[in-house]
Amino acid sequence: MYISSAASPVPPAQCAQIAQDAAVRNSRDDVTGLLLFNGRRFLQVLEGPRQNVERIYERIGRDGRHRALVMLRRQDIAAREFGDWGMAYDDPAHPSESLRHKVDALLDKAGPSTRAHFIGSAEMHRP
Ligand SMILES: Cc1cc2nc3c(=O)[nH]c(=O)nc-3n(C[C@H](O)[C@H](O)[C@H](O)COP(=O)(O)O)c2cc1C
Repeated sequence: MYISSAASPVPPAQCAQIAQDAAVRNSRDDVTGLLLFNGRRFLQVLEGPRQNVERIYERIGRDGRHRALVMLRRQDIAAREFGDWGMAYDDPAHPSESLRHKVDALLDKAGPSTRAHFIGSAEMHRP
């Protein structure tokens, strides 16, 4: 799980496209996850075989659309939190209650500063 800052303003449609493209590519590597965007910052979770996750993270780090990546958590997990989604994306047009619950739980564990970064957008996206 990392956070980063958008290099320039990213419209929601472009963020949805990034998530869709990611889902297609990540599925080849058995990687699932979550992508949140609050207008300024991304928060992404990548889950899967360690080597694959590391390789994808390196590639993402070279993407000029964002900068200042900060790794928040890198750990072995017993089970995936976002295994049901290729790359879950909090789409205001198609809100998902079960995703909402998982995101809330994740942000609860993430610590106050990460939470503060994203609570605003989470509230805005609530149906
Ligand atoms: C915030 C953000 C998240 C991304 N997440 C992924 C991802 O999970 N998987 C992926 O393959 N590419 C992701 N990308 C796109 C990659 O940075 C990169 O553009 C893409 O993998 C194509 O890489 P290539 O041009 O080296 O083939 C993401 C980009 C951004 C800006």
